[in-house]
Amino acid sequence: MKMLIKKISEIVESAFEKSGYDKKYGVVTTSNRPDLCQFQCNGALPSAKQYRRAPKQIAQDVLEWLEKHDIFEEVRIAGPGFININIKDNFLKKYLNEMYDSDNLGYDTDPHPQTIIIDYGGANVAKPLHVGHLRSAIIGESIKRICKFVGHNVIGDVHLGDWGLQIGMVISELKRRKPELPYFDEDFQGEYPNKAPFTIDELAEIYPTASKLAKSNKIAMDEAKLATAELQKGRNGYIALWRQILNVSVNDLKKNYSNLNVEFDLWNGESDGQKYVDTIVNYLKENNHTSTSEGLLVVDISKETDTYTIPPFIVLKSNGAALYSTTDLATIWERIEEYNPDQIIYVVDKRQSLHFEQVFRCARKTSITGEDLKLDFIGFGTMNGKDGKPFKTREGGVMRLQDLIKIIKDAVYDKLKENDSISTYKIDEIARKVGLSALKYGDLSNQITKDYVFDIDRFSSFEGNTGPYILYTVVRIKSILRKINNENFQYSNKIEAPHSDIERNLFLKLTKFNEVINQSFENKAPNKICDYIYDLSNTFNRFYHETKIITEENLTKKSSWINLIILTMKVLETSLDLLGIKAPERM
Ligand code: ARG
Repeated sequence: MKMLIKKISEIVESAFEKSGYDKKYGVVTTSNRPDLCQFQCNGALPSAKQYRRAPKQIAQDVLEWLEKHDIFEEVRIAGPGFININIKDNFLKKYLNEMYDSDNLGYDTDPHPQTIIIDYGGANVAKPLHVGHLRSAIIGESIKRICKFVGHNVIGDVHLGDWGLQIGMVISELKRRKPELPYFDEDFQGEYPNKAPFTIDELAEIYPTASKLAKSNKIAMDEAKLATAELQKGRNGYIALWRQILNVSVNDLKKNYSNLNVEFDLWNGESDGQKYVDTIVNYLKENNHTSTSEGLLVVDISKETDTYTIPPFIVLKSNGAALYSTTDLATIWERIEEYNPDQIIYVVDKRQSLHFEQVFRCARKTSITGEDLKLDFIGFGTMNGKDGKPFKTREGGVMRLQDLIKIIKDAVYDKLKENDSISTYKIDEIARKVGLSALKYGDLSNQITKDYVFDIDRFSSFEGNTGPYILYTVVRIKSILRKINNENFQYSNKIEAPHSDIERNLFLKLTKFNEVINQSFENKAPNKICDYIYDLSNTFNRFYHETKIITEENLTKKSSWINLIILTMKVLETSLDLLGIKAPERM
């Protein structure tokens, strides 16, 4: 279905054209004075200059055409030449019924689907997931769902950090602890054990210990670096051990992400590009893109127009080891080979923006990517504590994701318990769902690039612009529908024209769904969906308070209202799903 705002714009644009003016002045927007009108067109004012005519006169000319159209209830000139527009109730009714009957709530998917890879999550193997990875997971998952809804082929890749120094640290620490393991014997010819020489809990202890040691002890650091380089060169025992680390770690990560309701299509990692590194190095050398600087193999990516210094892109270290930059370049190569995407979107902490600027420039300058592959970096801000500093545990350590989820779930649990009217049935499961909504919505309702304060009380509140408030609205509708079901009321599936101003407002809000989806897709901005469902929930709750649906005696009216709230529920649930949030049945 065409967006309502577009439909109206087209009519007004053609009225401008028919009156002899450029149709570009006919763009219509939602009214910023809903008390005066539903929509407005302000184009007469800027056009006045071009046509040397009073804006009021231009508006008057346009109005003559608009008045012929039967979609408008009222078109009026206001102030110096604004055109105020109201739509006929019957037209709104028709629009809502079409939405109601269509599969996708009337959203037309893109007729030219693209292949989009979304690189998000970015967990590091052998290190615990912390809140820094939370934003990437939450935002990336939402953007992925939005792109899919719009109709694109989307591939979500967790892009594990599995090829860096932390692996070398774990390997050399294990070597210190259990030198007898076959992984360390270079002459070992047999089969390596199937079982990992550590559990996930042990692994969670090994890395921090090793990392602390390496920071204060140069020998330990050199050992870790050497182990990393040897691993990357393919030393058998290290590869076997690395697989064990990967296995144990990924199993745990999968559990964590699934608890968050975040699902990846690919569990690839930095290591997957390694098989292309030699090819890439040869390619870069043959095409004279590289030079050596202090033992490093680099590509100069500076431009004459640069206003700040962009350091050269480092391809390889002197010992041949790959860096973060190498793995990202190799991953682009790999993704082109395997998926031939139209776009790659990286959802990563904005403090990595220079790194991505370097990777993108290098890929473009060396023609590894052509002009037809879009590379986009979506850098997000930091989640801070109330002190305005990055969120930490009370002791000042890195907050583990699991602990964070527990904190918010407990906060919601307490709130649910406080509220007598809430059933304690399945309270644990409900607290988990509502807690997740608090966490995700608290994050997604902010602009991605901004830092925000993690405020448990605010996020878990059942009032205001929060996840729990939206869920409460959905649950309220579900509860009415349960009652209707219980009384076995047979309703038709038609929505009537609105019966009151408040109901009309609800109609107007519902018609905006596809417009909001488009905006959130184009700007990669889940917060636009949050703004929308908050507004919609408020409008719905106002309608709910003034309407007695269940006891309504006029059965066609009652029937229409039931359909209206079903449609509202569908719009809310579909939008929540795009944010990666699920509503419980009760709360
Ligand atoms: N593992 C990285 C980190 O924890 C994030 C990875 C982001 N994606 C990428 N292609 N570099 O910082």
